[in-house]
Amino acid sequence: MRVRLLMLKAGCLVLFAAGCAVGAGAQVSQNVQAVQLTQEAQAPGVVGTHGARAKAAKEQAQRAAALAKIAPAPPMGWNSWNFFAGKVTDKDIRDTANLLVSSGMRDAGYVYVNIDDTWEGERDASGHIQSNSKFPDMKALAEYVHSKGLKLGIYSSPGAKTCARYEGSLGHEEQDAETYAEWGIDYLKYDLCSYRTVMQQQAPNDPQAQNRLMRAAYETMHQALLKATAKTGRPIVYSLCQYGWDSVWQWGPSVGANLWRTTGDISANFDRISEIGRGQAGLAKFAGPGHWNDPDMLEVGNGKLTHDENVTHMTLWAMLAAPLIAGNNLTQMTPEIGAVLMNKEAIAIDQDALGRQGDRIFAEGPVEIWAKPLTGGRTAIAIFNFGESAMRGIGLHLKQMGLHGKVTARDVWAGKDLGKIGDDWRTIVPRHGVVLLVVW
Ligand code: GAL
Repeated sequence: MRVRLLMLKAGCLVLFAAGCAVGAGAQVSQNVQAVQLTQEAQAPGVVGTHGARAKAAKEQAQRAAALAKIAPAPPMGWNSWNFFAGKVTDKDIRDTANLLVSSGMRDAGYVYVNIDDTWEGERDASGHIQSNSKFPDMKALAEYVHSKGLKLGIYSSPGAKTCARYEGSLGHEEQDAETYAEWGIDYLKYDLCSYRTVMQQQAPNDPQAQNRLMRAAYETMHQALLKATAKTGRPIVYSLCQYGWDSVWQWGPSVGANLWRTTGDISANFDRISEIGRGQAGLAKFAGPGHWNDPDMLEVGNGKLTHDENVTHMTLWAMLAAPLIAGNNLTQMTPEIGAVLMNKEAIAIDQDALGRQGDRIFAEGPVEIWAKPLTGGRTAIAIFNFGESAMRGIGLHLKQMGLHGKVTARDVWAGKDLGKIGDDWRTIVPRHGVVLLVVW
């Protein structure tokens, strides 16, 4: 069977303006509201006289350079939420740190060990946040993680409460940033959660004013982190989590974000993973060194995902230059899962120094072809089959990627050189599977 593929790119960009880029359901209406806000959000401060514009542009360039120093490539590591959720303990973090080293994951690039929600305790009399009984000594834990050649991440919210209803940072931003610096924290995920209530209370029925409040809250923590870093010299990766609302990709860097979630929560099922991954089409131009779109943490090795589904998940995230934050229980990781997470060539596509996010080039039904420009004039090409049965006879459509004649190709997951191939090359892609090539 010959699969005819449609060029969707232009169409999707049109739909994107109406919310198609972030998938279906509730997300769509949130993004319809979002586009109305983007004009103003796009270039905050870049209005007024020539001098004022030049000053603002200079500041933005300085900010971009600072971000690029902290996260030149999409951050890689592990986060506790997808597997341990509210049960995570100090011991889980230490076990994970040990296993990141012994499994080879650290050396493959997974260096951040991120504690998600539910570590927080009460504040002391002077307002300093304490960890709860699951984390008896955060500073000692950070020292342990650092001693393994890894970095420690933590989680909070601009609201009074986190999403799991633990203590948030509202009104204590500087104090919290100082505490993180004292502990030796290297990464902060800052999750909107109950700050939405503040936005609704302070600006009822005014989405633009709510957006300004949200951006100000993220900027407040950014400034607090900068102050903390100035004291300690320890840079802190700043990860925004507000589910992609208000086109965060357009203003994330202006509040100091190194990465921002583009979607609601992922879960360990293929429909959700592919919905999120496919929904990222059109977002490529917003990502680059220092500032990355984050389609949420990996579920590779969680739930009942099949081998092909895990490979497709890893490939999609690599094509998206997404942060690769594993979310599985490393104490139970099989060699097969380890091989997916540690495939050197897939990781190299994600981490490529050009820092370009891939985009969808063609789609017809369940078949999609995505391309990602790489250094050295190379291109990564992923041919996905999101459908329920194997698809045969799928070609490359090189011309639509600006490639002409024959190219030299390597099949990443097969670990095989394919020699010279052209548009007459055909492949079979299994159900929920992918063929990933690098061509030049
Ligand atoms: C959600 C967030 C998840 C996780 C959770 C913790 O808002 O999207 O990734 O952090 O909160 O409560």
